[in-house]
Amino acid sequence: MANNEMINRLRDLFESALDPIWVHDLDGNIILVNKAAAECTGRTIEETLKINVKYILAPESLKLAQDIRYRLLQYEAIDTPYEQKIVRKDGGHAIFMVRTNILYSDGKPVAFQNIARDVTETKRMMENLHYYLRQITRAQEDERNRISHELHDSTAQKLIASGHRLESIINKYKFSRQEKTELWSLHGQIREILNEVRAYSRELRPSIIDHLGLIPALEWVTDALKTEYKIETSLKISGERCRLTQEAELLLFRIVQEALRNIGKHAHATFADVNITFGEKDINITINDNGKGFNMPDNLGELPYGGKLGLIGMQERAQLLGGTLNIYTTPGRGTTIAVKVPLYTLPDDKRDNDSDDTGHQDSQHK
Ligand SMILES: Nc1ncnc2c1ncn2[C@@H]1O[C@H](COP(=O)(O)OP(=O)(O)O)[C@@H](O)[C@H]1O
Ligand SMILES: [Mg+2]
Repeated sequence: MANNEMINRLRDLFESALDPIWVHDLDGNIILVNKAAAECTGRTIEETLKINVKYILAPESLKLAQDIRYRLLQYEAIDTPYEQKIVRKDGGHAIFMVRTNILYSDGKPVAFQNIARDVTETKRMMENLHYYLRQITRAQEDERNRISHELHDSTAQKLIASGHRLESIINKYKFSRQEKTELWSLHGQIREILNEVRAYSRELRPSIIDHLGLIPALEWVTDALKTEYKIETSLKISGERCRLTQEAELLLFRIVQEALRNIGKHAHATFADVNITFGEKDINITINDNGKGFNMPDNLGELPYGGKLGLIGMQERAQLLGGTLNIYTTPGRGTTIAVKVPLYTLPDDKRDNDSDDTGHQDSQHK
């Protein structure tokens, strides 16, 4: 192919590319721009060619762009693509994911070439999704709270009253020995149902988290695993403890609760431990077991199709808090769930959570 023909084809490719591409000199003056890039900024190609990138980047993005250009010139590695907020001519914004390279002439850097993807719509959709997810999670917690209180305040109270009434009937009237045995057995059943109702109520919303906070609630749920599944458990806390917002504490509690429930249900473990580290900027929680492990699907998103909502729910809760959740598991070698959440969810009135007087007795709806 002749050189000229090759250049024309490359120009066609550049001009018709759906992704925004532009080149600017070392001072930021745009010297080459394709239609997609110009359109995203709400300008024509001619208008875009007259300006400096500082007029199309939001202030925080300009700072990042300058930093990236500096680091590229120093041959430093940068994380790409990186996010940039573009200011449109009409004042609106677009979000680009950008990859930047240096262009050289005679071995000297002369310009920066940028290839971007307009992710404005995708980002908006993700934000909407997060918003709905947060609302759904809140609604679910509210509903659990309502049912938990209903069970505790109404159903359980009625069962207690029925037990008392039966007891006074047994004591008041004359019954044969066998009748009495039957009636006491019925009384025993009422007590059993009462205990189950209380356990459901506690499981739905342990009031300990509302009254005493995350750590006592985690002590309670870790102990419960020991009692219920006979698995040796331990809870270790390091770093300077602090309280998080009520929502953050509840979400973290739900993550650990589900991880422990999975250990009880699936792991066949003999040991499980929960480690919590309060760092300066984030809180790290790991939940380990020495159980049978499992084969992780390539994508956690596949699990809900099989009716499995636990792991994906844990990950979504971590993301709602601006954090991450990683799962490390090998068949036969146990499982570790690692959660990292930034501490900016801290309330203004950060209270010290003194471990010594919190205890971990269940204070369900007292
Ligand atoms: N700690 C664990 N040990 C072994 N297998 C686990 C563990 N946690 C999760 N799993 C596996 O991952 C699957 C998905 O878990 P999850 O999403 O919580 O759904 P569910 O608990 O309803 O099955 C489980 O069915 C189980 O096979
Ligand atoms: Mg589960």
